[in-house]
Amino acid sequence: MVPSPNIWHWPEVYEEENRAQDVHGVVYTALREACDWAGRDVVDVGCGTGFHLPMFAAAARTVTGVEPHPPLAELARRRTLDQPGVRVQTGSAEQLPLADSSVDLVHARTAYFFGPGCGAGIAEAMRVLRPGGALAIVDLDATAHPYGEWMRADLPHYDPSAVEAFFDAQGFDLRRLDTEWRFPDRATLERVLGIEFGPRVAERAARGTAGTTLTVRYRLHVRRKPRGLEIS
Ligand SMILES: C[S@@+](CC[C@H](N)C(=O)[O-])C[C@H]1O[C@@H](n2cnc3c(N)ncnc32)[C@H](O)[C@@H]1O
Repeated sequence: MVPSPNIWHWPEVYEEENRAQDVHGVVYTALREACDWAGRDVVDVGCGTGFHLPMFAAAARTVTGVEPHPPLAELARRRTLDQPGVRVQTGSAEQLPLADSSVDLVHARTAYFFGPGCGAGIAEAMRVLRPGGALAIVDLDATAHPYGEWMRADLPHYDPSAVEAFFDAQGFDLRRLDTEWRFPDRATLERVLGIEFGPRVAERAARGTAGTTLTVRYRLHVRRKPRGLEIS
């Protein structure tokens, strides 16, 4: 498992963060443009508490949330109890509890797929995708001001260009997406900064932010499973 202290230790604050993120739905729109899931089968890998499952379920035929941390998988199950097309499985990106060629979209948002080291998950996604299906990975762009600067200060060994070179070499298309995070008040904004960054960076980020909004740039990496037959 890739350690995820923010959502593992503070799922309630992560919920506030998810509610504040991307208030104009820029990421969802770009995802839909890249691989529309209406009437299709979707898996959300590293679904956490299942925040994004109802959004997929509104149009998909079926949605499977996969989450390795059992308490979070349980929260995701509870969130979607009244949604018959949704199921949540405890499992990981490296071993998806799904049959070969059984889904049309594998989605992962800030989960497991962080560049070098995630090859096993990419191979597994290609296994479960039907020909023509897509693996869509959403992560944060650590080169963009101001959020990216805080990320780099907090994770000095994270190399955004190495991550992009990795995904490029694996045949992913890249789109950058500028979003607005909007918090109901300063206290919520500061709580969220406090679970995303160490104390020094969180304090610097709070001091450097006026008001209750942040601009945050995401990356959307998409790789399709080929449709054609491979003829040797
Ligand atoms: C930052 S959270 C994001 C949760 C969710 N995607 C969201 O946007 O609300 C990262 C999630 O990835 C999960 N994770 C960690 N290692 C994983 C793995 N090997 N396979 C799948 N998910 C993993 C964590 O348990 C955590 O729930």
